[in-house]
Amino acid sequence: MKVLLTGATGYIGSAVTDHLTAAGHQVVAVTRTAVAPGAEHRPGRSWHSQVIGDTADPASLAGAVTPEVDAVIHLAPPSGEADVDAAVIETLAAPLRGTGRPFVYTSGVWVLGATGEAQEVTEEAPTNPIGIVGYRPAIERQVLAEAAEGVRAVVIRPGIVHGRGGGIPALLVERAREHQPPQYYGKEDVRWPMVHVDDLAELFVAAVERAEAGTVWHGVSESAVPVRDLARAAGRAAGVLAAPHTVSAEQTAEVYGPLFAEALALDQSVSGAAARTVLGWRPSRPGAVSELVSGSYRPVEVFGAPDGPETDAEVAAIRRLVAEVEYAQQTESVDRFLAVFRRQDPVWTTGHGKRLSGFEEIATFTGQVLPGATAESTAVYDVERVLFLRPDVAAVNVRQQPVRGDGTRIADRPEGRPFYILVKEDGTWRVGAAQNTVAVA
Ligand SMILES: NC(=O)c1ccc[n+]([C@@H]2O[C@H](COP(=O)([O-])OP(=O)(O)OC[C@H]3O[C@@H](n4cnc5c(N)ncnc54)[C@H](OP(=O)(O)O)[C@@H]3O)[C@@H](O)[C@H]2O)c1
Repeated sequence: MKVLLTGATGYIGSAVTDHLTAAGHQVVAVTRTAVAPGAEHRPGRSWHSQVIGDTADPASLAGAVTPEVDAVIHLAPPSGEADVDAAVIETLAAPLRGTGRPFVYTSGVWVLGATGEAQEVTEEAPTNPIGIVGYRPAIERQVLAEAAEGVRAVVIRPGIVHGRGGGIPALLVERAREHQPPQYYGKEDVRWPMVHVDDLAELFVAAVERAEAGTVWHGVSESAVPVRDLARAAGRAAGVLAAPHTVSAEQTAEVYGPLFAEALALDQSVSGAAARTVLGWRPSRPGAVSELVSGSYRPVEVFGAPDGPETDAEVAAIRRLVAEVEYAQQTESVDRFLAVFRRQDPVWTTGHGKRLSGFEEIATFTGQVLPGATAESTAVYDVERVLFLRPDVAAVNVRQQPVRGDGTRIADRPEGRPFYILVKEDGTWRVGAAQNTVAVA
């Protein structure tokens, strides 16, 4: 299909472009200004063609939906001015009338308001929008009314979008970096419905391909993630090891304005089950906390391998191995710790300079020192640099920070700088050689 896409340069629009293209569709991007030649070939910009248009000026969109356009996805945010927004929908939908072609409009879960005691609110629930999206239910109704005019009109309401290092979670990371400790907003028990941007993009593809006219879908893969957990994870992404603390509505409003402050403090539990059962949507990406702690919000310096999904997958596997080292240490699990080592002649030199040569020596020493080792403190491990010496051999620099049982940093204890040579054998990365060094500040 040839799909006209507004908001194509944006966070969600870039991912939607990638997934439409991967599914064999062509993207006609609506952009406010012409994107410089060459720049359209970046990831998320593999557009078939471009049309200039501004949703603040509905007349500029007249003619964008040509007879060759098989579907429209409208992602650009509304202006909030009712007349202008209604005119945009009218301009984009009118050429589709009587054709059965899809028109997918992007709303958001904030139109549901606080979900209160109810768990996993579905698409059947009435709207009760918070101030920042007060205008949106009227647009949803206008879009859905197009179903009666022979348009395959569909509304998607994404949860809070994460992944690709962007979206509102990136704001939490930025704030944690600036104002240690990490912050969250409103009451202690606020929850956000979340979705990974690549999973969401796949929902847009599914909706364009097979959602029925007049349907609404929640783009949510985790129905209610405690924002306190997100804040702690954002702190981890920012390298801040301190318990998160809440910021009052008044203080939040001073930073972000009252409307966005209300949105950040909104407690919701929203179900995305319908899209899975009816559209066959299969969200598969990591959850928001995991993405913050060890995914796209924690850039790793990578050398010796080309940029691309295959290298990303190897780096992710290496991170999982280092996370396993951390987990084994924190839980004092001798077996799990030994399982990270290669059997053939591994060598491990401790932070105190004791060299253990061969698997048996490492196993004996670990059995003696690991049980009971976390009584007073433990450590967190973060991969900082990966050098692929060969596709199956990597030199990995790790940052090791001493923490208490509650995860807070022990300020007067030096960090470690473990260095691992990892080897990939039979599809699995293992430690071939490891050396820890105390970092003198
Ligand atoms: N991110 C979330 O967590 C989330 C959750 C629920 C719903 N949503 C909704 O999803 C939509 C997209 O969000 P996003 O996070 O991808 O936002 P974004 O990164 O800010 O992208 C917005 C896109 O819309 C374009 N745009 C803005 N004003 C425009 C105008 N007047 N005319 C034409 N294009 C215009 C921008 O183009 P330029 O490059 O020219 O700026 C950009 O491509 C929005 O409606 C948002 O409310 C987002």
